[in-house]
Amino acid sequence: MMTKNVSKLKEHSIAEFFKKNRHMLGLYGKLRSLTTIIHEFVANSIDACEEAGILPEIEVKIVKIEPNHFEVHVIDNGPGMDEKSLGKALGQLLVGSKFHRLIQMRGQQGIGASGCILFSQITTGKPTKVINGHKGKTVYMEIGINIEKNTPIITNKKHINKEFKGLAISAEFKEVDYQDSKQNALEYLRRIAIANPHVQIKFLDPNNKLYVFERTTDEIPKKPIEIKAHIKSVDTDTLITNAKYSTAKTVINYIKETYDRVGDKFLKDLQKTLGKEINLKMKRKELDWDKAEKIIKAIQKIKTIAPRTDSIIPISEEHLKASIINILKPETLYVLTRKPTTYKGGYPFQVEVAISYGGKSGRKLKDKTIKSEIMRFANRTPLLFDQGACAITRAVNSIDWKRYHIRDFDNEPITIIVNLSSVHIPYTNTGKQAVADEQEIIDEIKLALMTAGRAISHHISKKMKHGLKLEKKRMFERYSYEVARALQTLTGKKEKELLPKLKEIILKRLELEDEEDSTKQEKENKKEELEEDIIDEEEQTNKKTPKITKNKDKKLNDFFKN
Ligand SMILES: Nc1ncnc2c1ncn2[C@@H]1O[C@H](COP(=O)(O)OP(=O)(O)OP(=O)(O)O)[C@@H](O)[C@H]1O
Ligand SMILES: [Mg+2]
Repeated sequence: MMTKNVSKLKEHSIAEFFKKNRHMLGLYGKLRSLTTIIHEFVANSIDACEEAGILPEIEVKIVKIEPNHFEVHVIDNGPGMDEKSLGKALGQLLVGSKFHRLIQMRGQQGIGASGCILFSQITTGKPTKVINGHKGKTVYMEIGINIEKNTPIITNKKHINKEFKGLAISAEFKEVDYQDSKQNALEYLRRIAIANPHVQIKFLDPNNKLYVFERTTDEIPKKPIEIKAHIKSVDTDTLITNAKYSTAKTVINYIKETYDRVGDKFLKDLQKTLGKEINLKMKRKELDWDKAEKIIKAIQKIKTIAPRTDSIIPISEEHLKASIINILKPETLYVLTRKPTTYKGGYPFQVEVAISYGGKSGRKLKDKTIKSEIMRFANRTPLLFDQGACAITRAVNSIDWKRYHIRDFDNEPITIIVNLSSVHIPYTNTGKQAVADEQEIIDEIKLALMTAGRAISHHISKKMKHGLKLEKKRMFERYSYEVARALQTLTGKKEKELLPKLKEIILKRLELEDEEDSTKQEKENKKEELEEDIIDEEEQTNKKTPKITKNKDKKLNDFFKN
């Protein structure tokens, strides 16, 4: 019996695993799958551009071939890739340049693009077409995946005479759909534009409508710094595994070179805590599980300097404000960037929030009613799905918005934006759409929202009071005609002369005497309270909104022809 069962054991590759479990990559549901595909390719493009110090220009095209069958093109102006790495990077799952690094990037796992290429192959039987422009050479190839072995299959490789710098990907997908929805590729790209004001995006939708999201700044975000793991975040297994890759001769040197916040004082304290039983100057190769465990236990007892947080690059209040004004055109806006801090004792992170009120803020339903909206971002990447499972949503929902004069949060023209930046975003799963419940992260988001809430409540309460006064004014004015008529009968004075006087009394009583025209006053009031953090109207009108035109863009249309 035993032997029979054992003979049934069969090894399978990671590509086979994800073929069976593609929902883990967010590739399920027709709408969600198409948005995920755009997300994976676009996030890679921005990552690559930023790392190479290039202002990203990205073109996205979605073409409908037949119902539930679409073609996707994503073209960037990034550095492209070394020709030899191209097949492996895109045609092999769990291969990437980001997994082993503690660096703030959008990608982490090495399965984003390759997962989409696998999805294309298993739904259409076709490989993905790639044009790569790198160091003056342009190469075309078709990339597929040997699913049983998880290795790339490269076909039709040829150098082409096309001047191009960057990466262009074209793939067909079945079992997907483009719908008019708040979770479609257009909404995804609109949110990319909000959190990435330096990115220029052109999007040609399946109806041949061209959307252009212009950049609002030419400043490329500072390059994120790659950091070493903080010594307190290391566990026994990691201490042993990393030791295998070190070239240091002794354990003490290995620890010093590999981890952050390991100074002479720390090493002295560590040796003292370990006592005579373990000498840190022992050979690296002598480090076994027992010794590593004792070292880790001792490390937890020693005081260390907090992890460095300069590895986090936020969007910045200035840039976030500019792009929100550009896209949401709010009446009132408050943007806040908190100081960086850490979670789990070793991972630095930073929270930014914005509360945008009025204008195009909130979500407009088909019946034209407005609902509030939460926009979640992780390392500037929009999270459109799994809202209910996300720590960001939980933090927003835990706020008592009434305290900030937002009486009916669900039904207000309000957009809450939260961007979480970290060298390691704790996603709930490989689909990367929801942030796990890390208490330190939730607390930071809450604190930021409370500060922003306080700032915005001032404006909202003023607005509410003013609205109430205007309502009273309208009511009193309606009665003033009758009162004037009655006074004419009583005093003999002319109704025409009495009316302006009555209006004057109304304005004085309501402290609206300066107001001749209510709309003008509303604008004045707004200006008055425009403190540094509240936007003004002029700033709004100077900004460009996404342009929508019929497509005439040659580059988007013909890139993969010939
Ligand atoms: N547009 C691009 N330009 C340059 N290099 C790219 C581009 N797209 C992908 N790459 C390279 O291919 C690798 C694999 O991409 P993939 O999306 O599969 O994984 P990832 O981005 O590392 O992680 P994740 O699974 O979280 O997306 C990347 O790590 C990067 O090195
Ligand atoms: Mg990726």
